[in-house]
This record gives sequence, structure tokens and C-alpha cells, in this order.
Amino acid sequence: MIESHQISSEKALGQQFFISPGITESQITQLISLTSAQSDPATMRNTSDWKNGKGRFASRANFDTWLNKGRSIYVLSQDSQDVAGIVWYGAEQLPSDGNTFIHGFDSTKYGITYAIRLYGSARGVGLAPTFTNTSLEMFRSSSEYQKITNNGVWLETNSDSISAIKAYEKIGCKQVSTSTQNGRIIMVFPSLV
Ligand SMILES: CC(C)(COP(=O)(O)OP(=O)(O)OC[C@H]1O[C@@H](n2cnc3c(N)ncnc32)[C@H](O)[C@@H]1OP(=O)(O)O)[C@@H](O)C(=O)NCCC(=O)NCCS
Repeated sequence: MIESHQISSEKALGQQFFISPGITESQITQLISLTSAQSDPATMRNTSDWKNGKGRFASRANFDTWLNKGRSIYVLSQDSQDVAGIVWYGAEQLPSDGNTFIHGFDSTKYGITYAIRLYGSARGVGLAPTFTNTSLEMFRSSSEYQKITNNGVWLETNSDSISAIKAYEKIGCKQVSTSTQNGRIIMVFPSLV
């Protein structure tokens, strides 16, 4: 029996969503189709999911290669089980190359990468903070988490992605790097280290 958690938000107007660990075959197909439809400018612009057909969710082969890096996935869905969102965590050291960190920041403590996507009616209704907090709790009680030694969680985002940054700030994330030439910044969950 897979443990799932129910969430909602004020702006979601009573719609209930469920967070489940893992991803089913049909959800993988949906994720690829949501990505390769190229009908989602925000995902195209802010993520490497499509990346001219070379991104992590651009094809089944790419998805499998990405998953093999060791990623714990949590899917957001409604009763239909259709993918309304995805969050993932994985053991990956925050790269110090190419990033200029704020004075005193110790990047070596951050060994868990995190990312989030919301789709369709799940986007723009304030679900990102609860989806993140709940999935992070689930991940922290998993065996994958226990194997990781540097337990700090980090993420990368575009410095002009206002909805993403606002959502991350709501759950206490702090910016710890200056913007790269590509306009990317690193944020971390400081309360976890
Ligand atoms: C980024 C993402 C996860 C944000 O989650 P979300 O729950 O949809 O976030 P919301 O749209 O509810 O916005 C979060 C906050 O930013 C605010 N916001 C959004 N756009 C804004 C703008 N242009 N100016 C000011 N505030 C803005 C919202 O009002 C909201 O604040 P509130 O809850 O206090 O009202 C989601 O939009 C998404 O998946 N986008 C596509 C993929 C992506 O960009 N992922 C992130 C990659 S780093």
C-alpha cells in the first residue's frame, strides 16, 4: 500500500490533490507528453526538461537516463491519477564550480538537489510550498535519504522566475549565490543543515 498525502490551498478552491512517492508508467508517458508538447512556455524557459529535445523529460530514453542518476520522485495528482505536478530529490553535491556564493556560505553541506514542476490547473494556485514541505517530509523518512551524508537541500532557478522564487521564499529558502551569466541562482533550505 503506497502512502499518499492530501493537500490543497486557499486558491485551489477546495480542489484536493494527493502526493504519492514514485511514478507510474502512465504518469511517465504523461510527463513526457506535458514536456514535449512544447505548449508550456514557463517550463520551456525555466527548466531543462525539454531543451530542444535533449532535456530530461524530452523522451523515454532521456527520462530513464535521468532517473538512473538516483532520483526520488513524488507525484501530485487528483483522483484521475493524471500528473498535476512532480517534485524530485536526489543525492547530488551543490557544485562550487561556476557559482559565486555569499560570504561564509559552506556549500559542502548541501548534497541533495530538489526541483518542482506544476502543470495545468495545479499551477498558479499556491500549491508549491505545501507540495514541497510535504514531499520533503516524505523523502526525509525514506531509506534513500538515510544514505545521504550531506543533508542540505539546494535548488537552482532563474533569477527572474518570480513565482518560483516567491514560492521557495515562503518555505524559508534563501538565495546563496549571485546570478550567473545565464541568469541562474542557487537557493537552499537553511533550516535543514
Ligand atoms: C514555479 C512554480 C513551481 C511555482 O508554483 P505555484 O504554486 O504555481 O506558484 P504561484 O503561481 O502560486 O506563485 C507563487 C507566488 O508568487 C506570486 N507571483 C507570481 N507571479 C508574480 C509576479 N509576476 N509578480 C509578483 N508576484 C508574483 C504569486 O502571487 C504567489 O504569491 P501568493 O501565494 O502570496 O499569492 C510553478 O509555477 C511551475 O511549476 N512553473 C513551471 C516550471 C517552473 O518554472 N519550475 C521552477 C523551475 S526552478
